[in-house]
Amino acid sequence: MKRIVILISGRGSNMEAILEADLPGCQIAAVISNRPDAKGLVFARERGVPALALDHKMFADRAAFDQALAAQIDEYSPDLLVLAGYMRILSDDFVRHYVGRMMNIHPSLLPSFAGLHTHCRALEAGVKVHGATVHFVTPTLDAGPIVIQAIVPVSADDDETRLAAKVLEQEHKIYPQAIRWFVEGRLKVQGNTVTVTGLLEDAVSWSVPSLQN
Ligand code: GRF
Repeated sequence: MKRIVILISGRGSNMEAILEADLPGCQIAAVISNRPDAKGLVFARERGVPALALDHKMFADRAAFDQALAAQIDEYSPDLLVLAGYMRILSDDFVRHYVGRMMNIHPSLLPSFAGLHTHCRALEAGVKVHGATVHFVTPTLDAGPIVIQAIVPVSADDDETRLAAKVLEQEHKIYPQAIRWFVEGRLKVQGNTVTVTGLLEDAVSWSVPSLQN
């Protein structure tokens, strides 16, 4: 049984999707938030998952917080650490400690639009497709090996809210899928490339309607 710890900071809809997904061979050992008021903690507790907060404001600096967080996480001996809307920059020491066993979801088609406000920036850039990416975490922000991406079309009448909702719907599909592959031991990482063994199609989830004429 593979053990998973999920880190959140707020709403926790990706965490919810993971808790509700069919993920044989894995156990969500704990959900940890850096914000005590994170809504996602309530849902996790209702589902009987140990859910706790470690308030980053109670620590002198990032290094001290990350050290305490890692100690807390390691009490659950996770095989995989899942960042699901965890909104804090990670110290290099923290990343090194979990390298190869920590994933993140980012609401854009990386390497485009790393960082914040991705939907707004995508609209400003006039891109025709947008999406989400699950990737392994490396010390460079939003730059680790890509596991799976979902593509959504950008429509003329999309605003930031509509586009965010379309992308989020896809996030809820690709994150459980990435975790399923990890748990099945099917992800091989070579340099910046992830191969999914035994996969017939590419690790891309399309929600683009077929173009007519
Ligand atoms: C998601 O869009 C995720 O990609 C980004 O932050 C958002 C978190 O949403 N990293 P939720 O907390 O999972 O609902």
